[in-house]
Amino acid sequence: MGEEEQAEADGKSLLFSPITIRGVTARNRVMVAPMCQYHSVDGGPTDWEMVHIGRLAVGGPGILFGEETGVEERGRKTHACAGIWDDRHIPQYRRLTDFIREQGVVPAIQLGHSGRKASCHGAVRDWAPLRSEDAVDGLPPWQGIAPSQVPLDATRPPLKVIDRDDIRTVLNSWREATRRSLEAGYEILEIHGAHGYLIHEFLSPITNQRNDAYGGDREGRMRFALEVAEVVRDAWPDDKPLFFRVSAVDGKGGQWGLEDTVALSRELVARGVDVVDCSSGGILGESDMPPVPRVPGYQVGFAERVKRETGAMTVAVGLITEAEQAEAILREGRADIIALARELLWYADWPAHAARQLGADADYILVPEEYAHRLRAREAAKDMPINQGGEETKAAIRYLMGEG
Ligand SMILES: Cc1cc2nc3c(=O)[nH]c(=O)nc-3n(C[C@H](O)[C@H](O)[C@H](O)COP(=O)(O)O)c2cc1C
Repeated sequence: MGEEEQAEADGKSLLFSPITIRGVTARNRVMVAPMCQYHSVDGGPTDWEMVHIGRLAVGGPGILFGEETGVEERGRKTHACAGIWDDRHIPQYRRLTDFIREQGVVPAIQLGHSGRKASCHGAVRDWAPLRSEDAVDGLPPWQGIAPSQVPLDATRPPLKVIDRDDIRTVLNSWREATRRSLEAGYEILEIHGAHGYLIHEFLSPITNQRNDAYGGDREGRMRFALEVAEVVRDAWPDDKPLFFRVSAVDGKGGQWGLEDTVALSRELVARGVDVVDCSSGGILGESDMPPVPRVPGYQVGFAERVKRETGAMTVAVGLITEAEQAEAILREGRADIIALARELLWYADWPAHAARQLGADADYILVPEEYAHRLRAREAAKDMPINQGGEETKAAIRYLMGEG
């Protein structure tokens, strides 16, 4: 009997049932979604990442992603973005993965390349482009690479249009970053193919206006994404899961749609991708495509469709904040894994609390044993006789208060 049938048969929460993908088992189906922190130094994690990741790891998830991690130095968005383009990064990330694993959580890394979105300030400055004046603050701009000369907006400097040599170089960077991720102790790897970064730029006709083998029809535009998947799968062990994050649809005015994502996902599955992580947006255009309405569970329908039509496992993400909501998505077979991002910034222990709410963790097993031990004792104290008016307790209190 599979893990899902077993949970169903036992009447147990599916969200808090284990999930096995290839040789890796996560203790539950709550995933910390990748979240850029803009705190790295020369690509490597700092104390901030240790605390941020640590706080999330002790909260009880099954799978924990850090942040988008650049496969090339020029493939970051900002000078403070994470990267894994050098072997010196390996021990730095190892510190994180060791800690994550000690908490019973599966450490996962998202590898990415920013493409035309490179060379900007961080999120709190709305990713404003770096200017030459920023060099005095140690933040010199650099040139982004892209499939075509289509900058993000008219104020941005020209891009380097990728030629065949660049493609070879970038693919090799993906291969090397995969090897380093393995050596750093990660057990799940996700290719960031969404949000208007390099891979997505190849997919969408808005940003890919090439007329060589990497452009033109959908097959041509998918070529780069599929080559990345092949290179990564080849360098990533057979017993380790490979995820791919898609923008299921481009975004307002876009041209890449859900049919395209289904076609891409089929090809990804054929190349050994196990899980399609269904996000959206990142490329804007002039078509009639509306923006995705940001309502609770706004991307679940994408995960459901990809799962149903491709046989891939899927991740549902986007405004999933309630335990029952997450459980229902899994019960209805709409996705296999539930990812949360912003809710965990606010409430890092969400998984442990959701497990209790769903009746899946009466013993505090999802929090570190040092916490669990004390919480169990507190639980027992809640049932002490004072609540029932026990005479012994009342007498003790009278004595201690000097009341006779
Ligand atoms: C602080 C922050 C950083 C993010 N960084 C990334 C990232 O590095 N890679 C990525 O694919 N998505 C990133 N996202 C998007 C999230 O992974 C997630 O898809 C999105 O926030 C929707 O989920 P939510 O409603 O649970 O927050 C980020 C989101 C936040 C809030």
